[in-house]
Amino acid sequence: MSAVIIGSGASVPERVVTNHDLAQIMDTTDEWIVKRSGVRERRFAPVGVGSSDLAAAAVGAAIADAGLLPADIDAVVCATMTPDQFAPGIAPQVQQKAGLGAIAAYDLRQQCSGFLYGLDLAASLIESGRNEHVVVVGAEVHRGYLPFAEGWDILAGDTSVELSEQTRTAIDESRGWAVLFGDGAAAVVVSRHDDPDVGFGPRRLHTDGTWVHLIEVKGVGFRNQPWVDEAQLQARLHWPSMSGAELFRQASVLMPEAVAEVVAEAKLTVGDLDLVIAHQANARIVEAARKRLGVAESVVPMNIDRWGNTTAATLPLLWDDLAREGKIPEGATIAFTAFGSGVHWGALLYRHP
Ligand code: UT7
Repeated sequence: MSAVIIGSGASVPERVVTNHDLAQIMDTTDEWIVKRSGVRERRFAPVGVGSSDLAAAAVGAAIADAGLLPADIDAVVCATMTPDQFAPGIAPQVQQKAGLGAIAAYDLRQQCSGFLYGLDLAASLIESGRNEHVVVVGAEVHRGYLPFAEGWDILAGDTSVELSEQTRTAIDESRGWAVLFGDGAAAVVVSRHDDPDVGFGPRRLHTDGTWVHLIEVKGVGFRNQPWVDEAQLQARLHWPSMSGAELFRQASVLMPEAVAEVVAEAKLTVGDLDLVIAHQANARIVEAARKRLGVAESVVPMNIDRWGNTTAATLPLLWDDLAREGKIPEGATIAFTAFGSGVHWGALLYRHP
């Protein structure tokens, strides 16, 4: 018995914000963003739309693509860094909004590696014989923590708005990370398969909490008394803080290392890989990881130019884009890999039926 991907679907907001649009509200350029990150445009969800809405739509699309009905799904695994509310996570809302039965609905908190951890869980639930069809979804609405304030009106095309000095400063201080992120969701259906020679093979997941400070949202949280207050907001503890250069260095090394581990465990070589589906945090990281692995550009596709870094949604969005373009051949040997906040990272090996 094995676990294979039988369908996928995505849900991205309609609103496109290009680098040129961002340059209207902050001290940046299209050239800087493209050169340093590979992002050309990203999507942002309207106010009132949360990760659970995008996730539920992606789950529905993936179930339809698999030729199944919501009632066929045994479990749903939801990965997000940006839940609709502090508690509960989005899993109950996704279960209800996607019209699933009263099934097990898991929330995973592994940020950029959330979908990778979700795939491992789904495959394990199926291989153990416990479940037949599990949906894994990655979804993010980052819009809420971007300090654009009245800048959102400018991005929406309102030329009469002028940024206050305070907003201008806040936006400029966020530019190192704010230009990277976008909103979106995508899901895959993982199902039982009879052929043991296909599906998920070796899997390695890692965590090193020594590096938790490299990228985190420090406040608001229950270590504080009270758990949220004006002082924390003033100190911008609700913003992500990110040591970009160190993250860059670690991601470029640890993703290819993890891929090499699972390839070796399967007694293959990296030359046997048809595709490496890597977390899309920065095109330069993906490129550095590719070079370290020593595989051709065509083996490590990217779509960060279109969507930006969608955290837990990058892997399934890339899978779904490739599936739509007919670029996941039958029998392909594929490595999934991710690295992100925690830090959590790892790789899974997969052979498509
Ligand atoms: O998925 C979650 C995990 N996150 C990551 O993996 C992120 C990993 N790191 C990165 O992707 C990169 O480090 C960044 C894209 C965040 C930054 O690229 P960088 O090449 O490391 O740039 P930097 O932070 O060293 O900044 C270089 C310069 C600075 O100016 P000075 O000090 O050299 O004068 C920044 O102030 O670029 C400036 N800068 C900008 N300029 C124009 C920073 N952000 C911007 C911007 N537009 N948006």
